[in-house]
Amino acid sequence: MKTVTCTAPVNIAVIKYWGKRDENLILPVNSSLSATLGQNELRAKTTVAVDPSFTEDKMWLNDKEQSVNTQRIQNVFREIRRRARKRKGDGDKSKIFSQKIHICSENNFPTAAGLASSAAGYACLVYSLAKLFDVDGEISDIARQGSGSACRSIYGGFVEWQMGTKADGSDSFAKQITPAQHWPEMCILILVVSDQKKHTGSTEGMQTSVQNSRLLEKRIEVVPERMTNITKAIKEKDFHTFAEITMKDSNQFHAICLDTYPPISYMTDVSRQIVRFVHSFNNHSGETKVAYTFDAGPNACLYLLEKDLGRVISLVNHFFPAQDNGLNLKVQGLPVSIDKPSQKDIDALSLPVLPNSIKYLINTKVGEGPQILSDP
Ligand code: DP6
Repeated sequence: MKTVTCTAPVNIAVIKYWGKRDENLILPVNSSLSATLGQNELRAKTTVAVDPSFTEDKMWLNDKEQSVNTQRIQNVFREIRRRARKRKGDGDKSKIFSQKIHICSENNFPTAAGLASSAAGYACLVYSLAKLFDVDGEISDIARQGSGSACRSIYGGFVEWQMGTKADGSDSFAKQITPAQHWPEMCILILVVSDQKKHTGSTEGMQTSVQNSRLLEKRIEVVPERMTNITKAIKEKDFHTFAEITMKDSNQFHAICLDTYPPISYMTDVSRQIVRFVHSFNNHSGETKVAYTFDAGPNACLYLLEKDLGRVISLVNHFFPAQDNGLNLKVQGLPVSIDKPSQKDIDALSLPVLPNSIKYLINTKVGEGPQILSDP
C-alpha cells in the first residue's frame, strides 16, 4: 500500500467568487482574491492510499463514508489519473494510476457553516493525490474542479484566482500574490455566529444569481478594477485601501444575494450588528482600522492589524458578551488576552449590548499552503 497524508488551509475571499460560466469545469464569471488562513486553527487533513487489492474507490469524511460518485470527485480523479499516466507512461510497472483510491479526510472546524470547508477539503484531496501519484506542476486547476474556491487554498499568503477566458479552463487557476510572511502584522479574527449548516449552499445560490440577478451583470464590470487596486494595496501594505475594497466587495456580494430571486440572505441581525460595530469603531478611531467580510453564512471575518487586535477583541467581548455575563468569549487559535475596554471607547461606539450572539472567536493570521505530513 502507498499512502500520503497532507493538510490544507481554509481561505477567506476579500474579492468574492460568485457565479459560474461553466458548471462542469467550474469556471467563474469573475476573478477573486483571498487570504489563506493559518492551519493550526482551520485546516482539512486527508490521507489517500492506493493498493492493488482495493476493488473500488472509497471515501470517508469525518468518519462517515461518502459517495465518490459525484461529478466533482469523478472529475478530480479523472484529471489526476490522466496526468499521472502522462507523467509515468504506460510502461510504469506499478500502473499506480489504474489502482483504486481510498480517502480519509477530516476538518478541525464545523463543516458547511460558511467556513469554507469545501475549499480546504478539495485542496487537500488534490494536493494529497498529486503527491501520491507524483503529479507536479500546476494543480490548482484540478482543485478548482472540486470546488471553485478550493483552487485558492493550494497556495499560502494572498492568492488570486484568475478567471481565465478559455472554454477548456486551462487559463483559470490560482496564483500567489504575496507569500504568507509578506504582511506579518495582518490578523484575521473570525466571529462565529452560527456553526449550523447554511440553508442555501454556495453552488445552488450562485447558480440562481447567474440566472436572474441584474446586479451580478454589473458586478462583473466592477471586479477587474477592484482586483488591480486590492492587489496593489496588499503589495504596498496599504491597510486603508485593502479594508475599504474588502468591505465594499462583501456588501456587493450580499446585495447580489438579495437581488437574486427568490432572495438569499446569509447575513443575520447579528452579522449586521457586527457591520455597524466595525463602522462605528473605524469612525471613532478616525481611520479604517478593521474590515469585515462575510461569505455564504452569518459568520464575520475581520481583517485588522496586530496593534489594534487587543482593543478590538475587548470591545467585541463587551458588545457581544458570552451568555453568562462576566465570562469572556472563548478564543480559539492564537492566544490573546481580553482586557476591559476603555469607557471612552464604549461610550463613543454607542451600540446595544447583544449577549450570547457570538459563539466563539477564532484568532489566526495569514498562513502557508498545503503541507505534507508523511511521504509514501
Ligand atoms: C461566498 O467555492 O463553495 O465563499 O465552486 O460551487 O463549490 P463551488 O462554490 P464555492 O463558493 C464560494 C463562494 C464564497 C466566495 C469565495 O470564496 O470566493
